[in-house]
Amino acid sequence: MAASREQFSSRLGFVLAAAGSAVGIGNLVGFPVAVTKGGGGAFLFLYLMFTFLLCLPVMLAELSLGRRTQKDPIGAYLQQTPARSAWRLLGLLAFITPFMIAVFYMVITVWIFRYFVEISSGNLHELVKPDALTNFVNSPEIFVYLLAVGGFVLFILASGVKNGIEKAAKVMMPLLFIMLVGLVLFVLSLDNALVGLRYYVIPDVSKLNATVVNTALSQAFFSLSLGMGILITYGSYLSQSESITQSAILIALADTTVAFFAGLLILPAIFVVDPSTDPAKLSDSSVTMIFNYLPKLFIELEGVIGFWGGSILAAAFFLLVFIAAITSLVSIIEVPNSSLIDTFKMKRKHALLKLSFPILILSVCCIFSFGMFEFLTSFAHYAGQSKSFFDLIVDLFYETILPLNGLLICLFVRYRWKNKLDLELQIGDGNYQNSMLKKYLDWSLVTLIPLILFFVFLNTVFHKFWGISVF
Ligand code: PFF
Repeated sequence: MAASREQFSSRLGFVLAAAGSAVGIGNLVGFPVAVTKGGGGAFLFLYLMFTFLLCLPVMLAELSLGRRTQKDPIGAYLQQTPARSAWRLLGLLAFITPFMIAVFYMVITVWIFRYFVEISSGNLHELVKPDALTNFVNSPEIFVYLLAVGGFVLFILASGVKNGIEKAAKVMMPLLFIMLVGLVLFVLSLDNALVGLRYYVIPDVSKLNATVVNTALSQAFFSLSLGMGILITYGSYLSQSESITQSAILIALADTTVAFFAGLLILPAIFVVDPSTDPAKLSDSSVTMIFNYLPKLFIELEGVIGFWGGSILAAAFFLLVFIAAITSLVSIIEVPNSSLIDTFKMKRKHALLKLSFPILILSVCCIFSFGMFEFLTSFAHYAGQSKSFFDLIVDLFYETILPLNGLLICLFVRYRWKNKLDLELQIGDGNYQNSMLKKYLDWSLVTLIPLILFFVFLNTVFHKFWGISVF
C-alpha cells in the first residue's frame, strides 16, 4: 500500500510556504529596480493589475492541477492525459524548468550568502573595491559557500513537507517580515527619505513604454513563482478542506506587500544619501543593483548613521535577501524532488541525493562561466553577443520557457481539463460557482491570458535570440 501523502498542516502553513516561495530575490531586488526605472506609481499600478488579473488565474490553474491530482507535475500530467498525448510534454517541462532555474538561483544565493558573511565580518568596504564581485565569484572559497548553501537547503528538504518546508517557512517568513518592516521604519526616519518615498509612489506615466509593460508582467509572473511547477507541487500538499482561491489571494497579497516594502526601503535609502539623484539612471539589472550598487549605498549611509550603523544595516539587508532566497530555493528543488518521490517511487532522502549531484555540477559550471573557464564563459553566441553558460540558462529558462509554461498551463486547463478546474475551485469554497471570479476565469483563461503570454514568449524569443524587438 502506498504511504499516505504528506500535507501542509494548516492553511497558514501552506500560505507561508507558498509565500516563502514567492518572496525571493525578485521581490527584494528585482522589484525595486523595476519600479525605479518604470515610472514609480505608474509601474506599481500596472504591476498590481497584472498580478491580480493575469497572474492570479494562472496561479489558480496550477494549484488546482496539483490538488486535484495529488501528484507531482510529471505525475499530474500523466494522470490527466491519455498515453502518447502531446500534453505529457508539459510534465517534462515542469521537471526540467525548475531544475535549471534552481541552478542559476543557487549561484546568486551563494553570492548573497558570501556578501552577508563578508559584511558581518566588518568587510563592507572590501565589497566596493573595483572588481570585487568578479574576484569573489572567481575565488576558490566560493565552492565552500556553495556547499554550505546547498547543504542548508537539502537539510530543510530532507525533513519533509511538514517538518521541513512548512516549519522553515513558519520561522523564516515572520522573521523576514519583521526585519523588513524594521529596516523600512528605520530608513524612513532618516532625513530626505520622504523625497524617495514620493518618487516611489507618484506615477510618472512618461516612463511607460512596451518594455516597461513587458517588465511589469514578467516581474509579476516570476515573483509569484509561476510556470515553474512549484504551485502544482505545493497544491498537491494542500488539504481538500481549504479554499484554493482564498489561499491564492493571500499568497499574492503577501508577495506584493513584501515587494512594495522592499521598494519602501531601497528608494528612500537612495535619496537619504543624495536627494538629487535620478534613480532611473542607477542600475541596469538586479544583479548589478545587489552586488555593485547596494554596498556603495550602505557605505555612503555611514556618513549619516556611522560605520557600524552602515554595516549592520547592510548585513541585515543581505540576511533578509538570503532568507527569502532560501525559501524560494527550497520550493523549486521540491518540484523535481517530488517527481522522483511520486512518479519514480524513490525515498525522499534518496531522491534528494540523486538531485543534488546534477544541481551541484551545473552550479559549478555556472560558477566557472564567470571567467574561470573560457569554454563556459563564452559558451554560446546569439543576438550578436557572446554568452556564458549562466547567461544561456537565464535566457532560455527564466526569460523564455517560463512564459511558455504559463501559456501551456492555461491551454491545458481550458482545452484538456475543461470543467475540472471549476470542480476543484468549488471545493472548500461554496460561493465560487456563482462568483465574478468564475466568469472572469472562464473568459480570461482561453483568451486574454494565453494571448498575452504568447506575445511575451514570441517577443522574448526574437529579442533574446535574434536581437529583434517585436514591440
Ligand atoms: N518568486 C521568486 C522570486 O521572486 O525570487 C521566484 C523564484 C525563483 C522562486 C527561483 C524559486 C526559485 F528557485
